[in-house]
Amino acid sequence: MLLRNFHFFKIIPTLLFILTFFLVIQMPSTNSNSSYSLLTDPFLQFPTTSSVKVVWFTEFAGVDHKIIYGQNLDKEIIANTTLLSRTREDQGSNVKEDYYQTTRRNIWRHEGEIIGLNQGEKVPYKVASLIDNEQVESNIFSLSSSPKKKTPLKILLTSDHQLKPMVAANLQKVVETIGKIDAIFLAGDLVDIPDRSSEWFDDRRGGAFFPCLQGLANYSIDNTVYEGGQLIQFAPLFPAIGNHEVMGKWSDNKRLSQQFVNAIPKQVAKNIYLQKADSINPDADPDIESNWIKNNSFNTDTYEEIFSLPQNESDNSHYYAITFGDIRLVVLQVTNIWRSPNLRNSVEGRYQESDRELNKPENWGYGQHIFESIEKGSEQYQWLEKELKSEAFKEAKYTIVMFHHPAHTLGGNIVPPYTNPIPNTNYDSDGNITEIRYQYPKKNDYIIRDLIPLLETAKVNLVFYGHSHLWNRFLSVNGLNFLESSNVGNSYGAHLGDNKRQIPPDYSPSNYVELGDPNGLKAIIPNLSPLTDENNNPLPYIASNNITVFSILDTEKGTVSSYYFDTRQPNSDVIKFDEFTI
Ligand SMILES: [Fe+2]
Repeated sequence: MLLRNFHFFKIIPTLLFILTFFLVIQMPSTNSNSSYSLLTDPFLQFPTTSSVKVVWFTEFAGVDHKIIYGQNLDKEIIANTTLLSRTREDQGSNVKEDYYQTTRRNIWRHEGEIIGLNQGEKVPYKVASLIDNEQVESNIFSLSSSPKKKTPLKILLTSDHQLKPMVAANLQKVVETIGKIDAIFLAGDLVDIPDRSSEWFDDRRGGAFFPCLQGLANYSIDNTVYEGGQLIQFAPLFPAIGNHEVMGKWSDNKRLSQQFVNAIPKQVAKNIYLQKADSINPDADPDIESNWIKNNSFNTDTYEEIFSLPQNESDNSHYYAITFGDIRLVVLQVTNIWRSPNLRNSVEGRYQESDRELNKPENWGYGQHIFESIEKGSEQYQWLEKELKSEAFKEAKYTIVMFHHPAHTLGGNIVPPYTNPIPNTNYDSDGNITEIRYQYPKKNDYIIRDLIPLLETAKVNLVFYGHSHLWNRFLSVNGLNFLESSNVGNSYGAHLGDNKRQIPPDYSPSNYVELGDPNGLKAIIPNLSPLTDENNNPLPYIASNNITVFSILDTEKGTVSSYYFDTRQPNSDVIKFDEFTI
């Protein structure tokens, strides 16, 4: 009896630990007796060699938002609070409350910068916000500045989350398999519609962006609930802009999904502005002009308001570079609007305008137009040229360039070529438009023609991207490694064998390639444990809505390892299926 009691008391601390662990994982960020909660846990942004920023969100304005930190939590700084300017909900939102129209939703963002940090030191921290005399606190996490050179790092390479069904499972398996992660590189498409707040914070299906990356998700696949991984509370996130970070023309009443697709080129909006400038802006105020053009073309405001990233010389973070330990990470904005390959006459697609809108230029889609140029000579290209010649780039042991649009892939989104659409307009004998078609000459593909030669000359170690929702990798004859690791659901498949890309029948197959990598590289068969086809032949890709993939860059070994997990078998092991050296 005594012995039995002894054992019981001995396991009490273990039971308490397990209980605390589950409370920490599953509780929203708040003290349990508060009627308020934080909308997210805090997360880390923009580390330098001596500082890091801490950011969190609330759905109340509150006061006295602060970061409490130090080995004894004995220091604090007051955060700077801003209100996100474009976050809304609508009929398409998955939230507790029903929305019958597009409605503003107030989300407050709090940010503070912890300075004077020693490289390599982990400092405990928590955040607190005061509302109605109640202090709402997060749990305690740890922060650090950017690591010293030669520190062994494990970096998660991921992309295209967009609330897809396998994100929470994927990130949970990252933590279970790898343990501590030092940073996350996310190659774009973080959510589906960037101005819909619930997609970032609290989509009721349980798989919103922040909960998945903070171990607070609650997403079920075949009755197995996945919580994601507690990642960004401890490790900084470095995102790139994908097509889903870009919101189209502003409207007070149209559905958010409609506003998302209604993105038109800035030059088109500018031309419309010039026709109406006298009435829109009689005093020729430059701020009114630029706001009008932004609200009538596209913007990445919500993305930029959420994250704290290095600013480039144009005063934005559309593209940026940062040193993190032995890595120089260069992030570009290489993305265009996605339009359907469907060839039905009524579809506003990548190859045509809808036949219903031919006489209404204000309603055209303008094909798959590019949001920010990477063409030789463009502002971004010149910035990149300068970056590749910088000391920070040259000194780095590993150089990684991340952007959204694929350079080489078996996926569908690489066709048509990445270049400005050229319209061909046909008229009837009365001068009415009968058809608008778009061509994209392959010889003008800015990624292949302009960007990749620059990266090859600079001997970049890895080019990382997403967008086609599959895993595949390539090696150029000049030794440049390409990785696309974006398999968390909604895969469009790989175009090999009989699975041809959808191309207009009168378009040249040499320009619009139906099968394989249009840019001439052969996809590499995973070298450890490839999936196989029905004839047991190894497959050079993973494009699955059941099997999810993540990749880890290990700076100690200089390797990129890729892992898969089959969500149909929740108790199965995570399998390392590919590893290459950079
Ligand atoms: Fe995308």
